[in-house]
Amino acid sequence: MQVYLATYGCQANERDSETILGMLEQMGYRETKKEEEADLILLNTCSIREKAEQKVFSYLGTLKQYKQDKPGLVIGLCGCMAQETDMIKLIRRRAPQVDLVLGTHKLHRLPEMIRNVQGGLGFQWDQEETGEIVEALPAIRPYPFKALVNITYGCNNFCTYCIVPYVRGRERSRRLEDILSESRQRVAEGAVELMYLGQNVNAYGKTLKDESADNKGKEASFANLLYRAQEIKELERIRYMTSHPRDFGEDLIRAIADCPKVSRHIHLPVQSGSSRILRQMNRGYSREEYLALVERIRRQVPEAVFTTDIIVGFPGETDEDLQDTITLLDQVGFDSAFTFMYSPRQGTPAAKLAEQIPLREKKARLQAVMAAQAGNSLRLHQELLGQTLHVLAESWDNGVLSGRADGNQLIHFPGEASGVGAFHQVKVKEAQTWTLKGETHGQE
Ligand code: SAH
Ligand code: SF4
Ligand code: F3S
Repeated sequence: MQVYLATYGCQANERDSETILGMLEQMGYRETKKEEEADLILLNTCSIREKAEQKVFSYLGTLKQYKQDKPGLVIGLCGCMAQETDMIKLIRRRAPQVDLVLGTHKLHRLPEMIRNVQGGLGFQWDQEETGEIVEALPAIRPYPFKALVNITYGCNNFCTYCIVPYVRGRERSRRLEDILSESRQRVAEGAVELMYLGQNVNAYGKTLKDESADNKGKEASFANLLYRAQEIKELERIRYMTSHPRDFGEDLIRAIADCPKVSRHIHLPVQSGSSRILRQMNRGYSREEYLALVERIRRQVPEAVFTTDIIVGFPGETDEDLQDTITLLDQVGFDSAFTFMYSPRQGTPAAKLAEQIPLREKKARLQAVMAAQAGNSLRLHQELLGQTLHVLAESWDNGVLSGRADGNQLIHFPGEASGVGAFHQVKVKEAQTWTLKGETHGQE
């Protein structure tokens, strides 16, 4: 039996897809990259912007044919879209070829639901929200040398534009010992880099404090997790995603400064450079507070490399607000920025605001922000010329290794295929907006 799995969205979904493949392997499935070979097609979906959802619906349309050609084919929808209110109704109406819809809370039920469909029990769905964290599910990971490790699930921030708190539920943290034991296991299996995942990693531990003796007090904080992970022998680099500016405390800055294995890449989504818009977004910080935080981090971690997320066209955003965003980009000097056009999400407060910005205007603003950022990226990359970076090679193609430096910059350099999965010292020879080119000084 073969499964075709399409994953959309962020690393939370990528990590869930690893678990999905792990569970399916235990059921006797093997992954295929060809839909026409599949007995089971699963879409692990994302709700963050409307475009992401449209993609899924149009893909579901093309799957209709596969189902006609192969009546036994099972089609399932999971991930964030599958957790949306009213999605069951919508799917039944618009995509009756879908056999099961499983939200984000009970991934472990997937095998049972597939068996139910195959056993003739008809359409299956489960959107129940549980606070429960199910540990020790199997996983199949795409890379042996790096691993995604969840530390928190859900989000309590309720930024006014964002659907994540609705589709991923309340914020909850894994027990520190569970995270550390998974970390050690991944390293024992050969991972040299770990990526700690959460919508807001700095909030790690908040929901645990009173639960059990081993998680009391300071034990379960993100800073402490970094100190503990730093001790794992053979582990070389620790990354994390995402940190929220509001909760970036002094203890965390200290931990980054103290722990050499912790990457100097700090993805710190700002969303807007206008304090007025930030207030409307419910981000919990002003432009000035954000800039002050960047300064505080730079004082203690001078090698910090910042990247960010920007939303343009939030309801009511003026030209002046947009200028504030552009000047903030220049002031901080981000290595790169993900820039998005605001997309109204049903059920979120911002979607109900009057003063929605027309699409054409949003496009123009996106162009303006991207152009400003491209200039900054190129300038920062040029400053790296001649420097030697610590790079984990992640892929190889035709004599060229590609990997990520400590600051997450993408760099290509000549090398052997056997260099994939190892760290290299790479001298920067050429700087471009999105990538660097270099030469190796040999494998470490
Ligand atoms: N938890 C992370 C972000 C997760 S979503 C954080 O708070 O930083 C990733 C990015 O998608 C966000 O940073 C934001 O820039 C963007 N985003 C979220 N909702 C959006 C929406 N409705 N329209 C456009 N972009 C959105
Ligand atoms: Fe969404 Fe805000 Fe939570 Fe990030 S912190 S997931 S943007 S609500
Ligand atoms: Fe998308 Fe869900 Fe991640 S909405 S961005 S896949 S948490």
